[in-house]
Amino acid sequence: MKKALKVVVTAGPTREFIDPVRFLSNPSTGKMGFALARAAAAAGHAVALVAGPVALKTPKGVRRIDVVSARDMLAAVEREVAAGADVLIATAAVADWRPKRRAAQKLKKGEMDGTLALVRNPDILKTVTGVRKIGFAAETRNVLREAVRKCREKDLELIVANDVTEKGCGFGTDTNRATLVRRDGTVTRLPLLTKLALARRILREI
Ligand code: C5P
Repeated sequence: MKKALKVVVTAGPTREFIDPVRFLSNPSTGKMGFALARAAAAAGHAVALVAGPVALKTPKGVRRIDVVSARDMLAAVEREVAAGADVLIATAAVADWRPKRRAAQKLKKGEMDGTLALVRNPDILKTVTGVRKIGFAAETRNVLREAVRKCREKDLELIVANDVTEKGCGFGTDTNRATLVRRDGTVTRLPLLTKLALARRILREI
């Protein structure tokens, strides 16, 4: 058997609360990240799964850390990396912005004037260093160009890109048609695969 690695996987959406009962988020279900965690554990790796709020069961043999916001997710990933991770695989659909202020009490309808001030969230994948990094790029246009740019910007060894407007791809689906873009510029277009089969294919790369 090949050497077992310590793998950290991020999965699912994040929630950025406006007040105690309202938040900004996205439709990510966590399926891709959970499939990766499952496949990595089955391959004998030690897996920490940092999961946003999702309705999925923890795969067998996987250590799960539940988080809510992007900043929670960053803190959890930094702890795992500091404890000695080999690879970070970031599948999470992290909210890019959060409300500038989180109200302590539920806002009344009249308390909002129609504008919500936002600030940028940290980019987890870009911020974390000292670990091999694999990212995902869900795009709606210029898929390859965006993937190459993100691979460089975030210093990744591999980025898994897909066009989320394509049938059978993206949020909530059980399948995905992805293109692998490596740091060295080589590109592999994959056929439509189940997320579990795609997870196994990605793990072969590492
Ligand atoms: O830049 P973009 O959001 O498209 O990059 C996608 C990749 O970066 C994914 O791997 C995603 O998990 C990761 N990401 C992150 N933190 C963010 C935004 C994206 O880790 N705030």
